[in-house]
Amino acid sequence: MSTSSAILIAAPGFALTSAVAFAAEGPNLGRAATPEEIAASDISIGPDGVGSGTPKQGEAVYAAKCVACHGEKGAGKPNDQLVGGRGTLGGDQAPVKTVGSFWPYATTIFDYVRRAMPLNESKSLTNDEAYAVVAYILQLNGVIGESDTIDAQTLPKVRMPNRDGFVTFTPEK
Ligand code: HEC
Repeated sequence: MSTSSAILIAAPGFALTSAVAFAAEGPNLGRAATPEEIAASDISIGPDGVGSGTPKQGEAVYAAKCVACHGEKGAGKPNDQLVGGRGTLGGDQAPVKTVGSFWPYATTIFDYVRRAMPLNESKSLTNDEAYAVVAYILQLNGVIGESDTIDAQTLPKVRMPNRDGFVTFTPEK
């Protein structure tokens, strides 16, 4: 008899202790990210868009970090072709969709490359490397000149060849 009443007294005490521990430690869903982990994913761009690059500088970045997957001068293989294909969209021939023939905005290339490339080490490019390698791809596509500099001011002004090639699709009612 005395044993069972001891258990009755101990049980509420145990429940109270665990409730307090829960409140203090949280729901145990994970842990706070370390500053290093945040820095590795933090690719926010400030309003100053700091950085710049030329096709020449980008050629070196490309040779070191892109050519293995995108081929010499963006010719493709084993992965996507980045250069050429102009005039292959809209006709009877198979369309060759590249940055030069298909992408309507240069800013998207910068964002995509900076966020996703090189595929095996994404988000590793410095701002200058990203600007430069984009400049190189644009120059290979004949969109900018060899001595042009790409930075926050010039990039949005680049007019991509397929800028007006998209139409708004309105389904018939
Ligand atoms: C390990 C292989 C690899 C490396 C290295 C690599 N890429 Fe890529 N890249 C890919 C693959 C695969 C895709 C297609 C991804 C998809 O469609 O989801 C791609 C897609 C792209 C595209 C979009 C092409 C399109 O028209 O859709 C661009 C631009 C690009 N890469 C640029 C670069 C640049 C610049 C570098 C170097 C800084 C680089 N890539 C390095 C594999 C790679």
